[in-house]
Amino acid sequence: MNDAARLKEDAARHALDYVEDGMRLGIGSGSTAEAFVRVLAERVAAGLQLVGVPTSERTASLCRELNVPLSTLEELPELDLAIDGADEVDPQLRLIKGGGGALLREKIVAAASARMIVIADSSKLVDTLGAFPLPIEVNGFGAVTTYLAIERAASMMGLSGALTLRKNGDAPFITDGGHLIIDASFGRIPDPEALSAAIHAIPGVVEHGLFLGLANMAILADPEGVKVLNS
Ligand code: A5P
Repeated sequence: MNDAARLKEDAARHALDYVEDGMRLGIGSGSTAEAFVRVLAERVAAGLQLVGVPTSERTASLCRELNVPLSTLEELPELDLAIDGADEVDPQLRLIKGGGGALLREKIVAAASARMIVIADSSKLVDTLGAFPLPIEVNGFGAVTTYLAIERAASMMGLSGALTLRKNGDAPFITDGGHLIIDASFGRIPDPEALSAAIHAIPGVVEHGLFLGLANMAILADPEGVKVLNS
C-alpha cells in the first residue's frame, strides 16, 4: 500500500468509531469511501449489523462484492449517518465534492442523513474552496444554454475561469443519473453560499458540488495521525 492509500485507510478506520450496530448508513463514493467500504466489510463479517445506502453504482457494486448489506432511499428515506470523501474541505466544513461524478446521489444521501462525516487525507483541507474545479451536474437538454448561464452568473459574482465539459475518453462523461458534468475552474470561491444559490437558480442545473451545512465532522489523516474537525 502506498502512502496516499495508507492515509485514506487511516481516516476510514477512524470513521468506524462512529458506526454503531443497527445503523442506517449512507456510503459515499470515491477512493477514500472505497477504503471505508473495505474496513466496514471486515466489521460486518465480524458481526456488525447495519444496512447501507450507496451513493453510486460503483460503491453499490463494491458493497455487494464484500457482502455489505444494502438498501435504498425508497426503503429507508432517513439515514443515521453518511460517511463520504471530499475533494476539498474548508475549516467550516464546507466541501467541494463530485470529482468522481457522484455528487447528486452523494448530496441526496448526505441530506437524508442525521449526520455526515467526511473522511480524507489532510491535503484536502484548504483555507478557501475553489482550487479544485467545482463540478456542476447539468441536464443534457440545453446544456450549452445552461453552460452560458453558469458563466454569466459566475461573472456577475466576479468569478471567472474555464468551464469544461467532463469527458470519458472522447465521449461526454455521463453520471449515474444520466446527466452531464461541467467542471468550473473558478480558482477561489470567497462566498460559497452566494455561488450555490446563483447556480441553483439556473434552469438546467441539476446539482452542484458545493456541500454547505451538511458535514458535521471531518476526519483528516496525515503521517502524524488523524485530526478531527467538528462543525
Ligand atoms: C465522488 O463523486 C466524490 O465526491 C468523492 O467523494 C471525492 O471526489 C473524493 O474522492 P477521493 O476519496 O477519491 O479523493
